[in-house]
Parts: sequence; C-alpha cells; structure tokens
Amino acid sequence: SAPVVVAIDGPAGSGKSSVSKAAAARLGYGFLDTGAAYRALAWHALAHEADTSDATAVLEVFGDFEYAISLDPADRWVRVGGTDVTAAIREPRVTDAVSGVARVAPVRHAVNELFRRLVASAVLPGVVVEGRDITTVVFPDAPVRILLTAAPEVRAARRSAELTDQDAAKVAAALHQRDAADSTVVDFLTAAPGVQVVDSTHLDFEQTVDAVLSVVDNTM
Ligand code: C5P
Repeated sequence: SAPVVVAIDGPAGSGKSSVSKAAAARLGYGFLDTGAAYRALAWHALAHEADTSDATAVLEVFGDFEYAISLDPADRWVRVGGTDVTAAIREPRVTDAVSGVARVAPVRHAVNELFRRLVASAVLPGVVVEGRDITTVVFPDAPVRILLTAAPEVRAARRSAELTDQDAAKVAAALHQRDAADSTVVDFLTAAPGVQVVDSTHLDFEQTVDAVLSVVDNTM
C-alpha cells in the first residue's frame, strides 16, 4: 500500500526542514524536502544563465531539468543531471533566485506531480513531506497535516545562527523579502481547515520534534 503522508508546511526559519527530518527518522519514515526541487531548478537556471525572474526563460530550462532526490533522512542528496547539488542549492545566490522559479505555475504543477510519484513509489511505511503548499495543494488528503510556525524575529535569529558568516540584519531582511515573494504564490502563514498548528516560538528543537510527533500520534 502507498506510504502514509505526514504533510508539514511553514515559512523559512520555522525549523521545518530539520524538525521534519528528525521526525521522519524517529518514525522510521522517509523525508521529502520539496523546497529542494525549487532550489535545484533555480541552480539549473543559474547554470544556464537564464533570467529567473522571466517565466518563459524558466520554462525553457525546465525542459531539460533532470531531478533526483534521496528520501532517506540519514543520507540526503540532491542531483541535477549527473551533478550532486546538495550543498550548492543552499548558497545565497540560489536562495535569492528561488522565489522566481517557484512562481511559475506550470513548473509547480509538474513538480507537484513528481512529488506525488516519488511518494507513491517509495517502499516505506510513510513519508514526511515538507514545504509551503503540501497540506493544501500537494497532499490535501494526508492523514496528518501540520503548519509549523514561529514568530518572525525568532525565525530570523535561527536562520542567521545557521548562516554564521552573514550579517544578521541582512539575513532577516532577505528572509522577510523571500516570505513576501513566496506569499504571493501560496499562503503558508495561516492554517487551512483541518491543519494543526505547531508554534515553535517558545520551543527548542527537541521540544518541536516532540510536538510534531504528538500530533502524529494523536491523529493516526
Ligand atoms: O523550504 P525552502 O526554504 O528550501 O524553500 C525554497 C523555496 O522554494 C521557497 O522560498 C519557495 O519559493 C519554494 N517552495 C515552494 N513550495 C514548496 C516548497 C518550497 O514554492 N512546497
């Protein structure tokens, strides 16, 4: 039978990615970071010197976008064609370009189908799928749907702690700008009906993982 889906949405810096990965490991589930696909496409577009703010240019490079991702929370990798881009897709130049490619509707439709195929074909009891529109668009019928939030200043502080070589004020401004750009495409700041909110503002990492796992326990 198809794997159980635990859908988790939230903004950047909510702890979404690391929390989802840890929750997946504890459940013995796979982990799918959907933002990685948009980041990989942005990387691919930059490699082709395409203008990531131009939908036509993005669609053109999407034509030969060959994407592969590991669902193993303990061994994560992302490939485009033959290239391992696991680290490269986290570079600021990619982060700055990603909202542009994520805005292109036909790209979203195609990657959503890819996410559904990846999950359906996984030989796993379940997959934790993390992103911006997983609870609402990609897997609206998932048995567990969670919105992971945190106060904006807490998210900015967490993100700048990750990016130790960068100025905190610049990180906060970039985060705010990306949230604003992404919000025009999907609403990931308010919970859709039936979606359970986990607010990590006053929780540390382990407490947030526990909060997510207790939602899973109470729902399934
Ligand atoms: O989660 P992460 O910060 O890696 O996501 C990178 C970008 O991918 C987001 O800023 C957003 O533009 C896009 N994204 C999206 N829908 C998703 C996941 C990510 O539009 N489900």
